[in-house]
Amino acid sequence: MLISERSRSIPLSCLHEIHRLVGAHPRPVIALHVGEPYIRMPQEAVEGYCRAIRDGHTAYTGARGLEALHEALADRLADNGRPPADRIFVTPGSCQAISAIMQSIAVDGGQVVLPELHWPMHYQQVTMTGMATRFAPFGDGRSVADVLEACASERTVAVLVNSPGNPSGRVWSAQELHELHDWAVRRRVMVISDEAYEDFVYDGEPCRIADLDLELPPEDRVVFSVHTFSKGYSMTGCRLGYASAPNDDRAALLTRVQEATLVAPSTPVQYAGLAALGAPAHLAAHREYVRQTRDSVVNRLGDKLLYMAPAGGWYVLLDLSAYTDDTYQFCKQALSDIDVGIAPGRGFLPAGNPVADRLVRITLCAERESTLEGVRRLAAYLGM
Ligand SMILES: Cc1ncc(COP(=O)(O)O)c(C=O)c1O
Repeated sequence: MLISERSRSIPLSCLHEIHRLVGAHPRPVIALHVGEPYIRMPQEAVEGYCRAIRDGHTAYTGARGLEALHEALADRLADNGRPPADRIFVTPGSCQAISAIMQSIAVDGGQVVLPELHWPMHYQQVTMTGMATRFAPFGDGRSVADVLEACASERTVAVLVNSPGNPSGRVWSAQELHELHDWAVRRRVMVISDEAYEDFVYDGEPCRIADLDLELPPEDRVVFSVHTFSKGYSMTGCRLGYASAPNDDRAALLTRVQEATLVAPSTPVQYAGLAALGAPAHLAAHREYVRQTRDSVVNRLGDKLLYMAPAGGWYVLLDLSAYTDDTYQFCKQALSDIDVGIAPGRGFLPAGNPVADRLVRITLCAERESTLEGVRRLAAYLGM
């Protein structure tokens, strides 16, 4: 029997592994290894979901989702301009959207540029398409265009940007996004903008790279922007995301992939999303909650441990090089000794990059008091 080498080449995520270890742990754990929000989803969304089922909205929608939701999402994305509703795709989580976009743009022998500090699933998704990954060390002092020039090639199909970033908490400035966009348009390379943490910018101004595209004729546009209800609206388990395609041709290719994969996203969940959009106060309250947790955690740990100050997002990266050269083992040991789940840096950087073994990631979106207790235990464990 033949075995798929491509499937076998998809690396297992260390995040799932630590998740399994936490699940099997004999005592209660302070879970700082995973992005699961303390703030519950808006009541409007809960009621929207129940009402949809009661009213019999349980049949398939089209592969792109509910039209009413497309319209509402086009309004939500409107800033400098409103993307047409018929280029919006509702998806079961933004993860599926990114994977489908990658499949829709994949070419044999193609390459995708990922930030060197990346979310492991982005790398898994590129690998799954059969394309190669080039890692770009953005933020190393060079301009965005110089970094891209140095790592891209004629075979580069796309560059993925994730701002605010997981795991880094990095927020790209408007100037950096402009540089990235100019480069991509000039080189005819697609941009996949993963905006999962768009509602969690604490320092700096949020800027949408898709807005830059709207100034161009449709055939020259390059940006797929990808969004989720998991983070801002706390709907992780509902599995609801959406993406906007840059033009009709790209939307047509993505439609083929979605029709071949999905049939349709969950109908009641789409109604929950529609109702959530009517609760914008939830977003501001959620951002404020996580921002205050970030401030407390950063104050407690101070400059000594921070690898990078998180300007946005749900995570902070710590540099434990003064304590260990193997954070993978450290995280397992910490779980066993102090009952705190922490994610090791391995998986967030290319294989073999020694920085990975210095880093751990902790979550800022969990309940604040238990997060601070976890941080207190970690600091005491390190002798701080
Ligand atoms: C950077 C990033 N993108 C996308 C996602 C996926 O979110 P969803 O629940 O919408 O699939 C996550 C989840 O952790 C994430 O960290």
